[in-house]
Order: sequence, then C-alpha cells, then structure tokens
Amino acid sequence: MNKILITGGAGFIGSCLAEKLAENKDNEIVIIDNFVTGDEQKIPTSANNNIQFIIADVNNVQELSGIFNENNFDYVFHYAALVGVKRTTDNPVMVLNDIEGIKNILNLSRDKGVKRVYYSSSSEVYGEPVEFPQNEHTTPLNSRVPYAIVKNVCEAFLRSYKKEYGLDYTIFRFFNTYGPKQSKDFVISKFISLALQNKPISIYGDGSQTRTFCFIDDNISATVNAFYKQQFVNDVVNVGGDIEVSVLDLANTIVKLTGSSSVIEHLPALKEGDMTRRKPDIAKMKTLLNSPLIALEEGLEKVLSDTKYIL
Ligand SMILES: NC(=O)c1ccc[n+]([C@@H]2O[C@H](COP(=O)([O-])OP(=O)(O)OC[C@H]3O[C@@H](n4cnc5c(N)ncnc54)[C@H](O)[C@@H]3O)[C@@H](O)[C@H]2O)c1
Repeated sequence: MNKILITGGAGFIGSCLAEKLAENKDNEIVIIDNFVTGDEQKIPTSANNNIQFIIADVNNVQELSGIFNENNFDYVFHYAALVGVKRTTDNPVMVLNDIEGIKNILNLSRDKGVKRVYYSSSSEVYGEPVEFPQNEHTTPLNSRVPYAIVKNVCEAFLRSYKKEYGLDYTIFRFFNTYGPKQSKDFVISKFISLALQNKPISIYGDGSQTRTFCFIDDNISATVNAFYKQQFVNDVVNVGGDIEVSVLDLANTIVKLTGSSSVIEHLPALKEGDMTRRKPDIAKMKTLLNSPLIALEEGLEKVLSDTKYIL
C-alpha cells in the first residue's frame, strides 16, 4: 500500500493526477487544498474509495503538521501553488509566501520518513530563454518574476534536502498544459470560452510569441510512469509539448474548431512575464510515454467535448 499526499489536488493537474493514481487499489490518496484557485467539484471520487480530501493551507505549518502526524505518507506530490500570470503579478508577496509551503513539506517529509517528494516546477524557471529547445541541464535558468523565482528556490530546496538529509525528489518542469479541468484564466480555456460565446479574443502584442501545449493526459502519463517506474529520481524532467504554435495561430485554430464569429483583438504587449518563445527538450519525457503526444487539434476537441469548467 502506498500512502500518497497530493497538495493542490482540487486544482487542474493535481485532481487529474489523483484520479489516475486512485485507479490503483494499492494507492491510498490524501488530497489537501485551500481552494485559492481550486474547486470542490474537481476533487475526484474513486470506485476504489481510496481518496480522502482535507481542506488545509500548505503554507500553514500547524495545519500541515497535524495532517502528517495522522498519516504516514510514503510519497508526496507537492502541486499546490499560487498560479496565473495576472494573479501572480498582482500578488507578488502572496506568491513568495509559497516558499513556506516547500519548507513545511520538506521538513515534515524528512521528519516522517517520506520516500520521495515530487514537485511541480515550471517552464518559467527558464525565463526569457537563451537556448532552444530548453534542456533540463544545459539551459541556464533565468527566473525574474516572483512566480519563477519561487519555483527556482523550491527546486534548490529539494536539491539541498537531498544533499543534507538524503530526501529523494523528482522535479517536473511543466510547460503549458491544458485540459477540460483547467481554470478559465489560462490561454486555451480563456480562448475557448470566448469563442463559444462569440466574444472578442484579446491577444497581447502581435501574437507572434510561441508556446507549446501539452494535453493533460500526456502530463499524467509521464508523471505517473515516472512514479511507478521510479525513474528520474533526484533529477529534473521537462513535461510539455514540443510543437511550437504562435498565440495568434492558436486563437485562429480555436475560432475555426468552434465555428465562432469571435474577432481577434490586439492589446499592447505585456511589459514582463510574456516570453517570446518557449519550447522544451522532451527527450527525457518521451522515455516515459508509450505513445506519441496528443496533437493540439485532437486535445482541443477533447476540451470542447467537456466544457463544464470553462463556461
Ligand atoms: N497548468 C500549467 O500549464 C502549469 C505549468 C507550469 C507549472 N504548473 C504548476 O502545476 C501545479 C498545478 O497547477 P494547475 O495548473 O493545476 O493550477 P490550479 O490553480 O488548477 O491548481 C493549484 C491548486 O493549488 C491550490 N493551492 C494553492 N495554494 C495553496 C496552498 N497554500 N495550500 C493549499 N492549496 C493551495 C489551489 O487552490 C489549486 O487547487 C502548480 O504548482 C503550477 O505552478 C502548471
């Protein structure tokens, strides 16, 4: 039996991870979330009756200690974080407070004998990138905004706890991930929501900035396989798509797929936080997958077939 803690499990990626891990009767899952962006409806139920939910703030040591004292966790997936470009830019102090969360998770994991901590870092640690594609080991980190700095600091905490206390970790650097459960304030959900309502779609700048997009199922397959196969222990893995798409092309594709009459409007370019290009080297991730990555149009169709959280 594996007792697994998932923080941020009422959110998009954490809830999908919990759902997948709960398919295995040998996993017993505890989700904690404070609902800052999470949603009770996203918390999965399991036919195996092996998911428990506790409302708690990871950054609050008292709340978290009580949960660690009542459960002997074998593994921790620390996915809770303040997210969203606008939210994190408007609330930088709140973002920096997430450093308390990693300290709490690591101190309690060390003290209670957790076998490994899995951490959701971000492509943002590469900042405005100096190398294409961005490789886990050769591309220098260039974090400037608080959200990226916190991810970078949390990575440093994981490496330091391994070095001083022998606590194992795996760092996943997630690149743009999308799926039906994603919050409305992210690019794909936002564009789909606007397109379905035939409302104008706004783009920062000329829309030539590129991103790669990863459908949630590929993210979950990679991370769950890393867990079951015990791969990339004390290592970093980029988890994302590797086909570059401009934001303008993305908007046009969504307008086409939805048959929308939305017009595309251009807003002034953002002053910070909107990288010109981003693309991961996913050679390591591909060793974790059994099939090719899901293509953008196929993933968008899957989102369009389940718009409960978007509309
Ligand atoms: N979705 C992406 O494209 C993407 C890309 C890079 C990194 N990530 C990382 O993946 C993780 C999950 O992101 P997501 O897209 O599912 O976002 P999300 O907002 O859907 O999920 C985050 C969850 O964490 C919870 N949370 C935040 N702070 C908390 C706290 N102090 N205590 C308890 N719960 C807290 C929120 O309520 C929410 O349910 C985050 O760490 C995020 O930084 C996501």
